[in-house]
Amino acid sequence: MCGIVGYKGKQQPKDFLLEGLKNLEYRGYDSSGIALKNDDEIQIIRSVGKISSLEEKVNNENLINCSMGIAHTRWATHGIPSEENAHPHRVGNVTLVHNGIIENASELKEELLKDNVIFNSETDTEVACAIINKYYEGNAVEAINKAIKVLKGSYAFCIFFEDSDKLYAVRKDSPLIIGYGEEEVYVASDIAAIISYTNKYSLIEENEIVEIGDRVTVTLDGNVVNKEVLTATISADSKDKCGYEHYMLKEIMEEPLVLEKTLKPYIDNLDKLPDLTEYEEIHIVACGSAMYAGMIGKTLIEENTNLRVTVEVASEYRYKKVIYDRKTLVILISQSGETADTIAAMRKAKMAGIETLAIVNVVGSTIARESGSQLFIEAGPEIAVATTKAYMLQVAMLSLLAYKAALSSGLVNDSVMNEIKIVPRMVREILDRRDDYLEIAKSIYDRDDIFFIGRKIDYAVSMEGSLKLKEVSYIHSEAYQAGELKHGTISLVDDGTPVISIITDKDIKEKTISNVQEVKARGAKCIIISNEEITGYDHLIQVPEMSDFFQPLVVVPCLQLIAYEVAKLRGCDIDKPKNLAKSVTVE
Ligand code: AGP
Repeated sequence: MCGIVGYKGKQQPKDFLLEGLKNLEYRGYDSSGIALKNDDEIQIIRSVGKISSLEEKVNNENLINCSMGIAHTRWATHGIPSEENAHPHRVGNVTLVHNGIIENASELKEELLKDNVIFNSETDTEVACAIINKYYEGNAVEAINKAIKVLKGSYAFCIFFEDSDKLYAVRKDSPLIIGYGEEEVYVASDIAAIISYTNKYSLIEENEIVEIGDRVTVTLDGNVVNKEVLTATISADSKDKCGYEHYMLKEIMEEPLVLEKTLKPYIDNLDKLPDLTEYEEIHIVACGSAMYAGMIGKTLIEENTNLRVTVEVASEYRYKKVIYDRKTLVILISQSGETADTIAAMRKAKMAGIETLAIVNVVGSTIARESGSQLFIEAGPEIAVATTKAYMLQVAMLSLLAYKAALSSGLVNDSVMNEIKIVPRMVREILDRRDDYLEIAKSIYDRDDIFFIGRKIDYAVSMEGSLKLKEVSYIHSEAYQAGELKHGTISLVDDGTPVISIITDKDIKEKTISNVQEVKARGAKCIIISNEEITGYDHLIQVPEMSDFFQPLVVVPCLQLIAYEVAKLRGCDIDKPKNLAKSVTVE
């Protein structure tokens, strides 16, 4: 989703700003822009499409001599992706970039129109800009303070004023950090933007106003706040593709390594994990792939304990009536830790006095900081918009939680523990079979519809398989409980329709095979992923047989690589699929 970078220092900011934007490309965007400022002039350059087209425009301009600038990648919310709607926006004295959504923009705009303010875009951001300008009478901090009392919604702003040589920033419900270099200060929506310049940074908290002049002053309601300087642990070379053609492939190939890192602390030591059996009910709340990881968690917990588990889409959970009449734990799952709906769901549970546990990748993110307790996955930075390794680790963490709960319930023995040690090796072996996935991809990449089927845990796994495929290849795909297809959707199956069946649950295997027969009889191309040899179909990927807890971990990479190879054959922009954003910081 939108990205922000800002600079104040001694250099011409152009190179930093463009590199910062490139580092944020992974978040997803559809237009971009930069604004430069010196004592006499403000120069704004904006462009639709890739950063490369902005870069071309910038390089063709006579840039003003300056040492301060702001830049932005926009993911359209209010108004189509266009040059007019791209940031930075300028109204009167104020030029700014914005992440988030101003929810009362239309009411405010009506008022501003009465004051004859002229708007040049359809954006909520331009309204926010006009509001700050309205309150500006020479004191920037005062104007920002007044404006944020009026603006409803979420925002991270980086701002400059025509008659001031200082840079300002403020945020609410959308992350922002300040980075410290040698006589240079950076502002960014995410550490990845600035990590090749500095690893020293501070987190800006809600409604703190940052003023960057010769020094940095942070105030909250007029009181000075001393910021802790943190050291980022991600390295600049995590942005390197390491010879892989795409980040998605690189990140899938990293799975054995990140699994090892994530699982290691728990091998022979499950004490570090919470015991879910201390609760009467578990709510797993998340969005997208993280929610599908939750579906696997639910199945593993329910099948191996007597606990009740619900999985809810965060955007529903935050608004629906939830009855907390039992001792409940709300588990939030989020790679970024910044997904707006998941944050809101977490806050709802906390407000109701319910314990929250976050499974999260980004240390220092809002969910990591605000949740009651945290389990960190060790995915490192995930650059491809479509999640792979982080999803894998979310599943792994839930598998551990389910296993510990099953042990406490006395429903399994501890022999399964030995399997944790071999999971990374098993996954590596699965990843090595690239030719098999390519062969399958070649047989399905030109189809319009692809179905995934499975029962119980296999259905839970298939949902993300289907999502991954449609995200990166743009092929319509759906995941079905194997027994459900015939209740309607089977009408779409005809000659050559690919149906990918996951069959690892032995108790229900025969039933799923009957469903495969049903689609085969209607001409489907049948691709089977199983831990047994099942013959008589178009393709079989045989994965190692594991305990219930870890079986999904050897199926997931097959689905991810099939999606990757299909997208590659179709020539898709694999790392930055259209319309998608990495971290969905708006509702
Ligand atoms: C990425 O492939 C996913 N498409 C997306 O659904 C993601 O899982 C979702 O937006 C949640 O993100 P989070 O894990 O950062 O909260």
